[in-house]
Amino acid sequence: MHKTTTCGELRIQSVGKTVTLMGWVNRRRSHGGLIFIDLRDRWGITQVVFNPAVSPEAMEVAEEARPEYVLAVEGLVEARPEGMINPNLVTGEVEVLVKKATVLNPARTPPFPINEPADVDEYLRLKYRYLDLRREPMRENLELRHRTVRFIREWFSDREFLEVETPILVKETPGGAREFVVPSRIHPGDFYALPQSPQQYKQLLMVAGIERYFQIARCFRDEDLRAERQLEFTQLDVEMSFVDQEDVWNVTEGCLTELADTVGGRKLLYRPFPRLTYAEALDRYGTDKPDLRFGIEIHNVTDLTGGSEFRVFNVVIENGGQIKAIAAPGCAGYSRRDIDELTRLANGAGAKGLVPLAILPEGFRSPLTRFFSDDRLRAIAERLGANHGDLILIVADTAEVASIALGEVRLEIGRRLGLMDPSVLAMAWIIEMPAFEWNAERNSWQAKHHQFTAPLDEDLPYLEMDPGRVRAKQYDIVCNGLELGGGSIRIYRRDVQEKVFKIIGMTDAEAYAKFGHLLEAFEFGTPPHGGIAVGIDRLSMLLAGRDNIREMIAFPKTQSATEPMTGSPSPLNPEELAILHLAVTSGPEPS
Ligand code: AMO
Ligand code: AMP
Repeated sequence: MHKTTTCGELRIQSVGKTVTLMGWVNRRRSHGGLIFIDLRDRWGITQVVFNPAVSPEAMEVAEEARPEYVLAVEGLVEARPEGMINPNLVTGEVEVLVKKATVLNPARTPPFPINEPADVDEYLRLKYRYLDLRREPMRENLELRHRTVRFIREWFSDREFLEVETPILVKETPGGAREFVVPSRIHPGDFYALPQSPQQYKQLLMVAGIERYFQIARCFRDEDLRAERQLEFTQLDVEMSFVDQEDVWNVTEGCLTELADTVGGRKLLYRPFPRLTYAEALDRYGTDKPDLRFGIEIHNVTDLTGGSEFRVFNVVIENGGQIKAIAAPGCAGYSRRDIDELTRLANGAGAKGLVPLAILPEGFRSPLTRFFSDDRLRAIAERLGANHGDLILIVADTAEVASIALGEVRLEIGRRLGLMDPSVLAMAWIIEMPAFEWNAERNSWQAKHHQFTAPLDEDLPYLEMDPGRVRAKQYDIVCNGLELGGGSIRIYRRDVQEKVFKIIGMTDAEAYAKFGHLLEAFEFGTPPHGGIAVGIDRLSMLLAGRDNIREMIAFPKTQSATEPMTGSPSPLNPEELAILHLAVTSGPEPS
């Protein structure tokens, strides 16, 4: 027998055809002397009917069959009798009357149901991932991811971008995330690193004159795992020559907009994508990856809260801090317990407290009523656009701590009020990132992104005097509270590059030791260039409306960085270690 037809393609027009189906037993029912089997493959489900009067041999196969057995059946497509039509199945108007059947392979009872939704422990799902992937939602995730990557490949190819593969075994790069290393057998004691991203290679491709590069690139970072982080992940990596920020933004936004309109069925909330400076994002949302599916912005009320008898605020203002607030719509009735929970959240983000100000029909309820007149409280409410029934939450601290703490509280309010609609994509640009950040431990400046990120032209004069003030031509794309991508325009002028190295405390000799290949390449005619990388796992997760990238990866690692199915990572035996010139000094004895 040879499979002629998928389990998803028969329709009423197919009646009268003889077909051969092959697939898995999704469900089996006996009914009035007949056996009905829902046969499943990647494309769908078709009901096949066994009748002892038609074929006693086939009937024996049906009796033996259990869920997840692999069957081959040959039979005649028939219209289902009146009243037996299943409107929930695309093949629901027909069934196949089986003439011949074989068990191609029996199956053990699966450790969790495959044919119905079930809340299965994730460890078990990952241990039997090949069964988990048979389930419809997972198959849909893989299909959506495929459509995403396919769309991207075609979109960039249509615009003269060249996809170039870059090495997986690379030279170790200082700074950035911790890298995985691979011992060299041929060069004892030497190691390759796995790339955190193709960053240096894509810049070298610009020196090579490729001008428009993209790659669906695997990247590796030895980080602690989270819902949106894996040890290995995939980027849409892009680099372009003779461009400035706007060009990179237009290309990225163009692709993502068309992608969102084509794949996944989720609505883009903003087009064009809003652009917030890093400073604005921090100020208004308390984070550099704001969830813009809802408002509840942070406001500065310092000017309205000074000069009272309330010492907490006065001390903060005297020390140059700020009083900031958000308004939670309809939350004036929050209990003591609710407020305590929110306060703990704010405390966790470094705030010393959280003052509630509820606007009730009978007036304000707040510890502040003892210190502030109703007029003043009304002015605060007005600043926040708050009305009757709303709850204002106030933090006094440094501007940064107040924002970050209220940012956390804002997200919790958004969660409680159901404002994080998974069917909506709120994409936005975060721009004008600071070029440097102060490293108190090393007592020096360090690059916020990486040392090849170009400063904003108008900030070049501050490069030596006031590095903290320098903003970079660096940008992130955020969506629904997640960093989706990031990139920058790169430095291609030697004088600027040397100044940056100096600021981050690197001598020319050190810079050459670490990045000599790149700096040398830049001496041979380097076009101005820049680019971006967008996380494909996160992007497809958002397009699918899921909240964990493991759902979008066929074989991911667990939160504790293992793969339960294969048991990786695993020890090497002494002979293998010897070949690699390695000795293990701690951890469990190699087996
Ligand atoms: P960056 O480090 O910002 O930039 O990474 C770009 C995007 O990759 C995704 N990402 C991850 N996804 C899953 N698991 C991880 N551990 C993980 N780490 C990052 C995110 C992130 O926004 N070379 C630069 C880009 C450039 O400058 O052009 C880079 O890699 O979605
Ligand atoms: P206390 O004076 O410590 O009793 O605090 C009085 C109120 O102010 C309580 O509701 C505290 O949670 C709150 N509070 C204390 N410090 C701060 C702060 N830095 N920002 C906001 N609220 C605070």
